[in-house]
Amino acid sequence: MSDHDVTALGYLEIGATDLDAWQRYATDVLNVACKEADDTLLIRYDDICWRLRIVPSAADDIIAAGFEVADEQSLAALEERLESLGFPAQRASSQQADARSVTALAITHDPFGLQIELYTGARSSSEPLSLPQPGNGYITGAQGLGHMVLTAADQAQAERFYMQGLGFRLSDHILLGPEGNQLQLTFLHCNPRHHTLALAPMPGPKRLHHIMLQVTSLDEVGHGLDRAVRSGVPVTSSLGKHTNDHMVSFYMRTPSGFDVEYGCGGLEIDDATWRTGTHYVTSFWGHRPPG
Ligand SMILES: [Fe+2]
Repeated sequence: MSDHDVTALGYLEIGATDLDAWQRYATDVLNVACKEADDTLLIRYDDICWRLRIVPSAADDIIAAGFEVADEQSLAALEERLESLGFPAQRASSQQADARSVTALAITHDPFGLQIELYTGARSSSEPLSLPQPGNGYITGAQGLGHMVLTAADQAQAERFYMQGLGFRLSDHILLGPEGNQLQLTFLHCNPRHHTLALAPMPGPKRLHHIMLQVTSLDEVGHGLDRAVRSGVPVTSSLGKHTNDHMVSFYMRTPSGFDVEYGCGGLEIDDATWRTGTHYVTSFWGHRPPG
């Protein structure tokens, strides 16, 4: 653990074929603020100007992930560390940083070609947050926007970049499947949130398996589930409780085909006392596929 490690997942850029569907999904189902800016959508759900930027693209997948660092000194140190590992980062212009609503920005790529943006100085909005429907908002702040799960064909390479490079720490593993043919999911943290990033070594149609938004209570999760069902959004995994982070959540399909996990009650990690471990099922109960 070093002072220069990334501290949070701050924003995601997502390429989508149907921005109108995303606007309806954000407003009617997620209950987050969504505004059009040029030909993109900016999604906001806390003080930060935006957390998700949806841009027109045939990809229907993640395009870039923004990770926060503490300050300019940390950004420079992180650039040096990534360079030494063979992942050189390019310092972005002030216009590029401005477009991301941050003061300083460096851009690199993970071993699988995903654009990784390291930044400091995220801009808060001058306007109060107004959610489209009643709600208590989201758990963000020092814990960042939530978590994301990426498919990563080569686990060793992924760990080299995200752990040695960006400074993520191991939370735990989940081993699935029969002995001798097990799939190992790796859960990593960079702040108290149990995991900010999970890596699934399976070929997927998309890089992004799901993103997780954390609300403040079980009632809020229930209201989210009601909104999904009412809007005809496919619920891909029923309400359930995860074994490793204890989150109670359900999963639903986004207009881009990957999922959103909508949950509450996630564990927080204290690095001074945390013990890594291995789980053999993903959930204590629930999280069943439809039907
Ligand atoms: Fe998740």
